Amino acid sequence: MENFTFKNNQLFAEAVALTRIAEEFGTPCFVYSRAALEQQYRAYEEALAGCSHLVCYAVKANSNLAVLSVLAKLGSGFDIVSGGELARVIAAGGDPARVIFSGVGKTIEEMHAALDAGIHCFNVESPLELEQLNDVAMQRNVRAPVSIRVNPDVDAKTHPYISTGLKENKFGVSMEDARLLYRQASTMAGLELIGLDCHIGSQLTSIEPFLAALERTLLLIDELAAEGISIRHLDIGGGLGVQYRDETPPAPQELIHAVRQVLGERPLTLVLEPGRSICANAGVLLTHVNNIKTNGEHRFAIVDAAMNDIIRPALYQAWMDVVPVKVNETAAVHTYDLVGPICETGDFIGRQRELAIDNGDLLAVRSAGAYCFAMSSNYNTRNRAVEVLVDGDQVHLARRRETYEDQLALENPLD
Ligand code: LLP
Repeated sequence: MENFTFKNNQLFAEAVALTRIAEEFGTPCFVYSRAALEQQYRAYEEALAGCSHLVCYAVKANSNLAVLSVLAKLGSGFDIVSGGELARVIAAGGDPARVIFSGVGKTIEEMHAALDAGIHCFNVESPLELEQLNDVAMQRNVRAPVSIRVNPDVDAKTHPYISTGLKENKFGVSMEDARLLYRQASTMAGLELIGLDCHIGSQLTSIEPFLAALERTLLLIDELAAEGISIRHLDIGGGLGVQYRDETPPAPQELIHAVRQVLGERPLTLVLEPGRSICANAGVLLTHVNNIKTNGEHRFAIVDAAMNDIIRPALYQAWMDVVPVKVNETAAVHTYDLVGPICETGDFIGRQRELAIDNGDLLAVRSAGAYCFAMSSNYNTRNRAVEVLVDGDQVHLARRRETYEDQLALENPLD
């Protein structure tokens, strides 16, 4: 996280002290670094130089319009999984012609919206979806660009909730079914077969599962070619992990280098759908310690962020690094459970952390740029946090903090 560094014992986002942001915007507050987002996106682009490619940022990881617009300005494509994400990409200035539409449950309305927008490709995940998309396209007198998502039955060796490429997972179609589906699709007048897609999971920390999946998908592409069905692009999905603690995931360059070696001279456009590896380490969550209490031997630091802001620890037992924003030179070091105000024992941000902190101190949860705000909720009628984007010495309000009025506005009591 080189864009979030300590200077004089204080944590900064680029050139801005995080204490200043907390004073101005309050906490909990998500802070993103434009430079970090750009750097990660460029790592992919640079590694792909000289190879026909499309990097489609997975919007689900962080869908704030400011984040999307930073990437859109760099020419990024986008991987979406809903009509809502399509609306966001368009609002952020993204090019619909560089959008691919993934997901197991696309609705007919979403298919129409995506065809209206002129997206690059639909990643189709089932026989029924293929038929529905064909019908929708025929009604509109167009051909929908299609890729079929195969499930290569490869173990991504990640948390079971975010593993997607095993045959017991709901995603994609088996290699055998894919063969039949391609044959079928090649005869459907409303479809134009352009690609083959595969995404085996998230937070992968080694290259091997990617290569195992690649080997299987290339075999299928070759078999299809022998039958006269030629595929123009291969989408290897997202999934590259990041360092939260002591993981040692490969850098984008390493992954792409290995993939390009296997691809060799094949005339395939390489499509990628990275989410986490672009934005996780481009963000932190600021939170104040509101109360320190002990229950017997146990010390709790109750902070003003909670599982509604950051559900990863509760949902995936994820370890997120938490550091004081300003070194506290007078507090003694103790072991704390960092917990939020929500009425659940699962409401923790970190457990058994050694920290020198007092009431009122400001903490930063690191690596909070991906799957944190995007998965937040209003549980316990808590307003969702404010989000800001730092650009050098400038701070841009990316999303204002919600108010109770915002929350209540959608509901109607009985008279
Ligand atoms: N493409 C598809 C089809 C996906 O399902 C996903 C993520 C991605 C791309 C992006 O994967 P990434 O590069 O971000 O790993 N909430 C979980 C992660 C869920 C991932 C879901 N799919 C977490 O906080 O760990």
